[in-house]
This record gives sequence, structure tokens and C-alpha cells, in this order.
Amino acid sequence: MPGYALLLAPSANRVYADQAGRLARAELAAFSSVLSTEPADIGSARIGGVEYLTFRSELTERDVAYLSNLSAAYALFERVGELLRPVELTPLARYDSDLITIPKYAGKTNEQFTKLLLNLTVLASAAANRMLDRKLTVADPLCGRGTTLNQALMYGYDAIGVEIDGKDVEAYKAFLQTWLKRKRLKHTAELVPVRRQGRRAARRLEVTVAASVDDHRAGAVQKLTVVQADTTQLDGLLRARCADVLVADLPYGVAHGSHDDQGGLSRRPLELLERAVPQWVSLLRPGGALGLSWNLKVARRELAEDILLANGLAIVPDAGLAHRVDQGIERDVVVARKPG
Ligand SMILES: C[S@@+](CC[C@H](N)C(=O)[O-])C[C@H]1O[C@@H](n2cnc3c(N)ncnc32)[C@H](O)[C@@H]1O
Repeated sequence: MPGYALLLAPSANRVYADQAGRLARAELAAFSSVLSTEPADIGSARIGGVEYLTFRSELTERDVAYLSNLSAAYALFERVGELLRPVELTPLARYDSDLITIPKYAGKTNEQFTKLLLNLTVLASAAANRMLDRKLTVADPLCGRGTTLNQALMYGYDAIGVEIDGKDVEAYKAFLQTWLKRKRLKHTAELVPVRRQGRRAARRLEVTVAASVDDHRAGAVQKLTVVQADTTQLDGLLRARCADVLVADLPYGVAHGSHDDQGGLSRRPLELLERAVPQWVSLLRPGGALGLSWNLKVARRELAEDILLANGLAIVPDAGLAHRVDQGIERDVVVARKPG
């Protein structure tokens, strides 16, 4: 079987320090389910003084199209004897990459990590085989200023967000509108009040965008909705079974204040999960998957898994993605699937 060497984006080292290779190998293993041949001998090698992720496989054009979306992929080479033959990457990239890289603000979830989490979740869902060809719907019920939603747009998908903080929703609208205007893309964007039982209950940002004039003419638009509301009280605000996958980066919490008896950990992210997961599960289509990241320093993995299990989800085996973000944050990932 031919050997391949994947060069990781230099930014991966900034995001994950010395753990970038380990996370990329786990992500490649997750892609195995959609490749025509399972990659063998996944490892790493130093070639010409540079570290590569290495594996063996019989890659078809479609396999390369899948792997082009690896969150840390920079360049792929086939190993031919001592030499490296470039393999052209063909990522799902409907828009210029600055849609993802421009936004910078306190509390932003790193965009490369967000892509990793989205990929793992799509690959665990019944939609995995449609990842490249269909317009999936991605929901982020804690969407902040839209890192997940922007990645969903980039993939050509529809996106749904929920965010409690009105300032975040307004800032996201302002960014998106400015960006869409600057790129001269046909779009609509409005922020409107939502009423429940005659009273103003929430606000809703509704955006439509077409990647080209031809798409616009053909009515091939992507839809993005952000509801400004409490994610634990979504009744009547979003349709049941509207999303193929749901991805969220939980508030990181701080290890002070309300301590419990679980080794002195704050329960706050878990309390949010306990109240929100029943709502989130109902947003998922059958066979849909949910991917969450959170700070292990404030909530243990087993407790997060228990909440998902109690809501009827099947946990995808832990791929060992826990990694250090900074002194106060050790981030982990859990992915679970709704029965089909
Ligand atoms: C870790 S941040 C996510 C950041 C986001 N991924 C981004 O890159 O912008 C968690 C978000 O959850 C929001 N949040 C916390 N509790 C919430 C609730 N009950 N309902 C809706 N949003 C909530 C916070 O305001 C914050 O924006």
C-alpha cells in the first residue's frame, strides 16, 4: 500500500503545542469510517527535518477530498522512495478563509479546534457519508460569536445558533454583514423580535447567503439562524429534529464558588448540561450526533457522559483528545449519537 505524509498547518502547534500530532492522528482515525480503505500504520516521521503525520492507504480521489478537510491539514504528499509527491488537496471551502480567521475576541473557541470538533461529530453521525455532497444542518446551542456557524457556512451547510448574550449576537451580525458586503456576496440579514404568547421572548438573526451569482439565481442559498435565548428554554423557538449535528464548546467555568463533593470541582457546566441536553437531543434528527468540549478542570468526563447516556445517546469511544489549553483549562471532547 502506498505511504502518505501529511504536513500539519503551523498553527496546529500554536493551538495544541506538542500535542498537535496526537490530535491529528486521532482525527485521521475518525475519518477511517468514510474512506475506501482504512489507513494503516498511522504514525509520525521526521522528513528533511520536518515532522509529518504518516500513514499507508489506497487513497481514491474521494478519499483525498475527505482528508482535505482534516482540521490541521496543510499539504499532503505520497511517499515515493525517498521523495514526496504532492497530492492536491480539495477542501470544502465555499468562501475565503478570512470568514473564519478574521474574528478575534475574548472567549472565542479556537477555529481549528472548532473544525476538529465539527468533523468528529459529523463523522459520528448518520450524515457522515453525505459530508461532501449534501447541505447538512449544524447547530451550535452555545454559539458565542459564531465560530462553529462560520465553519458550517464554509462547508456549504446551513447553521443554527443559540446564544444568551445579546451583545454577542449583535457583534456576530455586524461582523457577518460587513464581511458579506465586502465580499460582494448576495445576502439578507435581519435581527427580529420573536414573540411567545404575545410577549417578546427572544430575538432571531436570520441570514441567507449565496456563494455566487449563479447560486443566487438558482436559489441555492445557505440559511443561518441565531436565536438569542437561554439554551435550556428553547420550547417553541426551534423546530424539533432540525439538525444533523450539534456542536458546542461549554462555558469553561472557574474552579471557585459552588464546589461540590466531586474532588472540589465546580458543577456549573454540568448543571447547564443537565438542563440543556434534553432540549438539544430533540433538535437532532435520528442518527444525529452531538459533540461537546469542556474544561476537565471543572467537570469530570464520566459525569458529562452520564448526562448524555441518561438522555438516550450512545457515547462514541473516547479517542483520547484531552489536551492542555492554558494553566486553567484542560479541554476534553465527548461525541455521542442519537439512535437512528
Ligand atoms: C465557551 S463560549 C462559546 C464560544 C463560541 N464557540 C465562539 O467561538 O464564539 C460559551 C458560550 O455559551 C453562552 N452561554 C452560556 N450559558 C448559556 C445559556 N444558558 N444559553 C445560551 N447561551 C449560553 C455564553 O454566553 C458563551 O458565549
